[in-house]
Amino acid sequence: MFNRRWSIALLILLGGFLYTLVQFIISTNRLQHQVDNLLPGQAQAVPSHRIMLISQELDNPYWRSIEQGARAAAGKYGMDFEYTGPLRINPEEQLSLLEQAIASRPSAIIVQGTGGADSKELIDRAAALGIPVVTVDADEPGSHRLFYVGSDNLTAGEEMGRLVAEAADGKGTVGVLVGTARADSQRLRLEGLRSIIASYPEMKIADVRTSDISRLQASEQTRSLLAAHPDLKAVVGFSALDGLGALDAVRQLKTNRLLFAFDDLDETKEAVQKGLIKLTLVQQPLEMGSTAITLLHDYFQGKSVPDVSYTTIRLLGDSSNAKPDGEGAP
Ligand code: BGC
Repeated sequence: MFNRRWSIALLILLGGFLYTLVQFIISTNRLQHQVDNLLPGQAQAVPSHRIMLISQELDNPYWRSIEQGARAAAGKYGMDFEYTGPLRINPEEQLSLLEQAIASRPSAIIVQGTGGADSKELIDRAAALGIPVVTVDADEPGSHRLFYVGSDNLTAGEEMGRLVAEAADGKGTVGVLVGTARADSQRLRLEGLRSIIASYPEMKIADVRTSDISRLQASEQTRSLLAAHPDLKAVVGFSALDGLGALDAVRQLKTNRLLFAFDDLDETKEAVQKGLIKLTLVQQPLEMGSTAITLLHDYFQGKSVPDVSYTTIRLLGDSSNAKPDGEGAP
């Protein structure tokens, strides 16, 4: 009799325990379901790759376009994206930013090839640590960068040479402004221009000056070029603000020359429309940024990526040999 009572009591206890357990499991599942609904896809939203872009000059409009293209593409792929660069063009600072970037171990780094052994050494150090480095705008030949995205600068320089020679009727002296003598992109543009001008016996490159990608310096260098070579027929600017700097100079001197530019900053487009700048070769910085990220995404997915991806160059302006209006044209 006593045992039976105990058995019944034990059964009731066991039943109660099982009931509580089942209720606990049901409510835990319900809670988990509610949390999952509140944070849909949160697991995928955690950025899996951190990409750093180091520019030649932080607020230069051309570099801001590369940043914009890269940032938008990085957002699309759920990548974490950081942009940095020297306040004013400074290759040493650019390299020290690259060194700091490597130390922070990102998934990949996008840089402009600054030219020189120290740049190669740093890119190779990153590659040896398993951090892919991609070059944009200017390549770093001979380094272990993963790939290059940007213009075909040799072809662009040759194209500029043909356009200048055509506009100048194959005669006269030309002054050239380069953003920096170090970067491969500027070196190649100059090489291309020289090779074409050399095929015109009555044409000559009078001088090549450096603007440090500054409009003010481009203007000062143009004034000094014109003082040293008063018969200069044309000025070619090889970085985004050089054409506008050359225009500032000829305006100040109240003279007129054939001016050739690169890129399509708003003021450059306006000057081309007004015929103050003969023409400009327009690069695609937005596309450079987005292509660099897209190819990195492919690379992370295990796909093969091309060694070089050239973005297009578009001509804006007058490619005829019509002379500029106004007095003072030589
Ligand atoms: C060049 C860049 C330079 C930029 C800004 C572009 O034409 O390709 O190397 O940084 O101009 O001046």
